[in-house]
Amino acid sequence: MRPITCIILPTYNEVENIRWVVRAIFAQSEKIDSHDLHILVVDDDSPDGTHEEVRRMMGKYTNLHLITGEKKGLGEAYKRGMAYAISQFHPDLIFEMDADRQHDPEFIPIFNYLATHGFSLVIGSRFAPGGSTPNFSLRRKAISLLGNWMIRFLGGIPRIHDCTSGFRCIKASLIPRCNLSFLSTRGYSFQSSLLCELLRNGAKVIEVPIIFPDRIYGESKLSFKDQIEFLFNLAKIRFRQSEEFVKYCIVGVSGILVNLGMYITLTRLLYLPPPLSSPIAIETSIISNFFLNHLWTFNGRHNAKGLFKKITNFHIVAGIAGLSNYSVFILLINYIGLYDIIANLTGIALGTLINYFCNSLWTWRR
Ligand code: GDD
Ligand code: MN
Repeated sequence: MRPITCIILPTYNEVENIRWVVRAIFAQSEKIDSHDLHILVVDDDSPDGTHEEVRRMMGKYTNLHLITGEKKGLGEAYKRGMAYAISQFHPDLIFEMDADRQHDPEFIPIFNYLATHGFSLVIGSRFAPGGSTPNFSLRRKAISLLGNWMIRFLGGIPRIHDCTSGFRCIKASLIPRCNLSFLSTRGYSFQSSLLCELLRNGAKVIEVPIIFPDRIYGESKLSFKDQIEFLFNLAKIRFRQSEEFVKYCIVGVSGILVNLGMYITLTRLLYLPPPLSSPIAIETSIISNFFLNHLWTFNGRHNAKGLFKKITNFHIVAGIAGLSNYSVFILLINYIGLYDIIANLTGIALGTLINYFCNSLWTWRR
């Protein structure tokens, strides 16, 4: 049996578009000879008769499927659709795609190819170099860019240009690993939540620039409520990220204990001189911190860097953070006259932040 690609089309009042989209997608089947193409329309009881139109087409297209339900938002529709597709068709790949002709079906074979040749997440990107949104109003552009910037920054994913895109191809095996119940996923913020979860689970991502033209028929369903939900969701994504930060701090504290234990062993048991014991103890704690972070804090993050490169980066970061810690300490006691313990704590806090962010965004960069 050939592997299956299932394209999920969420619809709410797309009667003028759905026929064109379904036909255009199936026209791509012949360009994909490696996979069987299926379409699952997830319609939320559209009052305009979208599902009746889909049912009529199902007579002609045997790979066209439909589920309907109450309207609870775009994210809820995708969650239902993905669960249904996985249980019914056991697809290899799942596409997310809009059913309003704003996503060009001509991209399907390329996405499909990339998702079977080394990548597990292909994003149709409006904001990567070469992509565009020629007809976005200034307001919509500003909202989209600001939203993307916030997700990138708070989610710690600086490399991805379009975090809210609704045109993506995903290795289906990654989806059950994502915990979406923690995040708010009813509306459009599903897109950024899913992206963060996929990346947490080690998705290898590539962005393909796309042009996102204006709608010809019907209208966007993105509401003010969706934008508010997006902001709340950002806080949750940040909180999820802080789980990593907490682990990083625990590892840091363990490093102090390792350092101390090593120092005591070297000086009290092996009678080595303190000036020699201290650097050995420091290095031991750096190495133990590295492996604990590698195996626990950042477990699941994969990048092209080999272990040796990561260890080198980790040392460079430790050097930078140590220097910053020391500089702030000196600055605060000499120029501000701060109590030395407070100055030291401030230095440690700064060093820890620098350490965490550099390692998160560079050493174990996603
Ligand atoms: N089933 C269902 N339920 N479908 C929905 C719902 C819903 O509540 N809301 C929207 N849809 C469907 C639409 O019918 C369309 O096929 C698709 O989801 C996209 O909806 P639009 O309303 O056209 O979204 P957009 O063009 O404003 O937004 C695009 O950009 C966003 C980010 O800026 C989409 O690509 C979004 O997915 C994307 O997040
Ligand atoms: Mn649209």
